[in-house]
Amino acid sequence: MNDKVRILGISGSLRAASYNTGTLRAAVELCPDDAGIEIYSIDRLPGFNQDMDEPPPQNVIEFKAKIREADAILFSSPEYNYSIPGVLKNAIDWASRPYTDNAWDGKPAAIMGASIGGIATARMQYHLRQVMVFLDMHPLNRPEVMIGHAADKFDTDGRLTDEKTREHIRKMLVALVGWTRRLKG
Ligand code: FNR
Repeated sequence: MNDKVRILGISGSLRAASYNTGTLRAAVELCPDDAGIEIYSIDRLPGFNQDMDEPPPQNVIEFKAKIREADAILFSSPEYNYSIPGVLKNAIDWASRPYTDNAWDGKPAAIMGASIGGIATARMQYHLRQVMVFLDMHPLNRPEVMIGHAADKFDTDGRLTDEKTREHIRKMLVALVGWTRRLKG
C-alpha cells in the first residue's frame, strides 16, 4: 500500500465545544504526512430503527460509503455513564446493518477519549473494543489515548494545548498508519 492512508475521524460527542471533537481536530494537525484524516459528523443520523434498515435512509448510505472509502477509523469519544455515548452506538449500529452489509467489517481502528474526570474514558474504550469484536474491526492496541482532566488541557477556543498529550496522539497516529499498512499488506 503506497498511497496515503485515509482515516475517517468520528467524534462521539455532538456538543459544539466538545473536547473529543477538539481532540480529533488536534489529530488532523498531528497526522503524519503519509496519511490524512477527514472528520465526519454523525449528527445527521436518525435514531436506529430496524424497520428502516432495508433500504436505509440516505444519510446512512452516505455514512457507510465514507466508512468504506476509508482505510482506517479513528474514534474520539467521551464516556457517558461508564460506557459508549448513545449517539456513537447509534451510528455504529446503523453502519453495521443490514446483517450482511456491515461497513465496519475488517477496518483497522484506533480510539481516543477525553473526559473531565480522571478515569479518562477507559470504561468507554473497553466497551467499544468489545463491540469491535462483533463488528470484526481491528483496533490498535497501543498507545492508548485517554485524556483525563480535559478542562486543563484545552484552551478557550477548544484547541488541545497540552504538549504531552499532543505528542502521545502523534505517536498513536504513526502506530495506526503502520498498523493499517500491515493489515492491508
Ligand atoms: C458524562 N461525563 C462522564 N465522564 C466520565 O469520565 N465518565 C462518565 O461516565 C461520564 N458520564 C457522563 C454522562 C453524561 C450523560 C454526560 C453529559 C457527561 C462527563 C464527560 O466527561 C464530559 O461531559 C465531557 O466534557 C464530555 O465530552 P465532550 O462533549 O467534551 O467531548
